[in-house]
Amino acid sequence: MNNGSWEKIYNEQGIVQHEILNTVVEAIELFKSKKYKYIFDLGCGTGRNTVYLASKGFQVLASDISKKGLDITKEEVNKHNLSDKVTYDTQDMFDMALPNNNFDAVLCVWTQGHGLKHQIQKSINEVYRILKMGGMTVMDFVTVDDNTFGLGKKIAPNTFVGGRPGEEDIPHYYATMDDLKKMFSKYSNVKYIDRTYEFKDNNGKEHIIEAIVVHAEK
Ligand SMILES: C[S@@+](CC[C@H](N)C(=O)[O-])C[C@H]1O[C@@H](n2cnc3c(N)ncnc32)[C@H](O)[C@@H]1O
Repeated sequence: MNNGSWEKIYNEQGIVQHEILNTVVEAIELFKSKKYKYIFDLGCGTGRNTVYLASKGFQVLASDISKKGLDITKEEVNKHNLSDKVTYDTQDMFDMALPNNNFDAVLCVWTQGHGLKHQIQKSINEVYRILKMGGMTVMDFVTVDDNTFGLGKKIAPNTFVGGRPGEEDIPHYYATMDDLKKMFSKYSNVKYIDRTYEFKDNNGKEHIIEAIVVHAEK
């Protein structure tokens, strides 16, 4: 998986994802209600969700394919005096060397669309494998209704590369509800929540992302 773009983005701009999304606030309420303890922040970026999870008392494995992202995550965790709550890894979400039945929950935010559909299916299956029985994942997916759909070069159905400034090397898969229902078919109690994210980038430019948030249990 070519992830040079994210390494470059974090080297040049440092932290680019700041605010805590309602998706994560809701996920944490669910994790607390289920008395979960050990959470995998898959594709942790520069650690906004890792710090938030650790500050709420969870033990977290923070993992990202970008070494720079992980370095910044460590700095942020240390800055908040949460180092006893967090361990680190550099797993590729499409090929994870992690044991079966290991985590209470896997949180994967703004990350799963960075690949081809068959890779994403593999990752969803891998997350199932590493979840404990009774565990759950919370993931989100940019959808075909997003205003960046169709930008760049089409490399596979609903998948484009080169359409987003700064992410020229990264394929973006845009989900449909039908695809997601197939992809999560081995999970139980699956919920699909339509979500519109609004945020400003480091230059103050406003962005809107049309997404589906998935809650799925093993
Ligand atoms: C938009 S950022 C989101 C980061 C974080 N989840 C957040 O919400 O702040 C996407 C992240 O996915 C990571 N990523 C992309 N492909 C990956 C892969 N194959 N395995 C693991 N992480 C990956 C990137 O390095 C980047 O940090």
